[in-house]
Amino acid sequence: MRGRRTTRKSSSRKRSANGMSSPPRRRRRCRYGTARRALRTTTILTPPTETEQRRRIVRALADGGCVAPDAEADALLRASSEGIGPIDELIVRRLRGEPLAWITGSVTFCGVRIRVESGVFVPRPHSEGLARRAVSLLPAEGIAVDLCTGSGAVAAVLASAYPRADVVATEIDPVAAACARRNGVRSVVGNLDEPLPPSMRGRVDVMTAVVPYVPTEELHLLPRDVLANEPRRALDGGPRGTMVLIQAAEAAGRWLRPGGTVLLEIGGTQADELARTLANAGLSEIRVHRDGDGHDRAIEARRPN
Ligand SMILES: C[S@@+](CC[C@H](N)C(=O)[O-])C[C@H]1O[C@@H](n2cnc3c(N)ncnc32)[C@H](O)[C@@H]1O
Repeated sequence: MRGRRTTRKSSSRKRSANGMSSPPRRRRRCRYGTARRALRTTTILTPPTETEQRRRIVRALADGGCVAPDAEADALLRASSEGIGPIDELIVRRLRGEPLAWITGSVTFCGVRIRVESGVFVPRPHSEGLARRAVSLLPAEGIAVDLCTGSGAVAAVLASAYPRADVVATEIDPVAAACARRNGVRSVVGNLDEPLPPSMRGRVDVMTAVVPYVPTEELHLLPRDVLANEPRRALDGGPRGTMVLIQAAEAAGRWLRPGGTVLLEIGGTQADELARTLANAGLSEIRVHRDGDGHDRAIEARRPN
């Protein structure tokens, strides 16, 4: 749930307990007006060359506080050339803080193009490690479950790696579940494991879950654009951020086959509490995966044979 890729500059951000890049205490004033004026001057002049146009867009995005103005300019230009809308409109939407993925309509996740519709949580690059680990554990014709699938990114990666595997996903938000289905994911609407077919109980090879895990008490530290745009129920993990995580860990004990594995994305200081829950659910071989900065990113556990 880090907002690093699509949000505002954050050089002074401290890392919060859930591993996110948090905003500075004093938020930057939006420079939307300035950037928009700069942009307008680019379009009323004689038509710029492509290079000039790109350079001016990069500058407008940088002035507006985008952290990766070059990459975003290219993505917006590509989206515009694909007919999504006039480039000026796309830039204005971005400068207002709308997630880039909602404007362009997609992200690339583990090399798979994932549609991301407005209102649906944008899959984060830091979840790719969990998805790759799940791919390495799933037998080619195995059974995988992805709880809280959102746009279906993790499930779509599994299905694309193993077209003959049985991949089922759950999602509480019908809008996100529909988005996942448009990504080719068999997504059912409901609370965590409740909508799973009973025939799968005790037969699942790999269960994945990137649930909401931001502690309620830390929501205010999220980047402004994330808070303003992405759905709260995709972010808010309750006190300490572990409310949904604990339920997902308990579900793993019910659905995994002997030898099956669960992978849960976590952040900050959540590993100990989750390790205890996983052990209480009868799982063993519990290990924590860290990211390149040494922060806890996922917890893995196996159901003993
Ligand atoms: C952090 S987002 C992750 C989405 C996706 N797994 C990804 O990595 O892009 C969490 C998702 O869980 C969904 N969600 C929240 N509570 C849920 C619940 N109790 N049961 C099922 N889905 C839930 C939210 O609607 C949201 O789409």
